[in-house]
Amino acid sequence: MAVHKISVFQCWAKPLSNFNMVWILLLLLLFVILVVAYWYWSIVPPSEEKKREVLKDKVVVITGASSGLGKACCFAFQKYGCKIVLCSRNIEELNNVKQQLEDNALLWKSSQENKLSHLVFKLDLADTENMGNVVQEIAQSCDNKIDILVNNAGVSHRGSILSTKLDIFTHLMIVNFFGQVALTKALLPFMASHSSGHIVGVGSVQVSGRPDVYLLS
Ligand SMILES: NC(=O)c1ccc[n+]([C@@H]2O[C@H](COP(=O)([O-])OP(=O)(O)OC[C@H]3O[C@@H](n4cnc5c(N)ncnc54)[C@H](OP(=O)(O)O)[C@@H]3O)[C@@H](O)[C@H]2O)c1
Repeated sequence: MAVHKISVFQCWAKPLSNFNMVWILLLLLLFVILVVAYWYWSIVPPSEEKKREVLKDKVVVITGASSGLGKACCFAFQKYGCKIVLCSRNIEELNNVKQQLEDNALLWKSSQENKLSHLVFKLDLADTENMGNVVQEIAQSCDNKIDILVNNAGVSHRGSILSTKLDIFTHLMIVNFFGQVALTKALLPFMASHSSGHIVGVGSVQVSGRPDVYLLS
């Protein structure tokens, strides 16, 4: 009886050689297309129309809306048809920003934004105990629908670690960290109940450069 010896390589190579090479090439091509598409969609920003489509009528809570980046965020979200909930401690300044948003909306022809009324709420991030009450009020005014939270409000301090008093560290941590955690926790159930929501955090790349002199969120 003849004994045929088959090497390990032959065992492995035989089924592969029978496989239709066209299918292998097609699979490879599909893989390359998927990789390129993923890369393209992850680096190319969405079009203005797409942003408007996605953000239209979304309720956006912005902390620190009375000035700086928070104020700029109000105008940026308004542009895409969002309803803005402006929060910070200075009600007078928040009302000024709200008025500017309304004036801005009037300039746009036939815009959906004209119909949206933005809201103003006094919110002190250092008052973590009262956070739940403020969030309840916000939610009631928005039919319990909160889509986006922009955790922007924050305080900073410049000084050396040695000369900076501990109460400054404590205040910074309360406003920039615990206050934001408390607000996020209080708001999350309203996002969870709709199974959707986005939370934006504003920080700084500066800390990686000079962590010894720069204290902020
Ligand atoms: N500007 C920058 O170069 C820079 C760089 C890196 C990071 N950031 C961060 O970006 C965020 C905004 O910076 P910004 O330059 O726009 O600052 P900003 O103009 O000083 O505005 C800070 C905002 O936070 C609010 N705020 C302060 N303490 C608060 C508290 N206890 N409770 C509620 N709101 C409070 C203020 O409103 P009221 O006074 O009305 O409460 C104000 O609207 C901050 O978190 C900051 O750390 C800014």
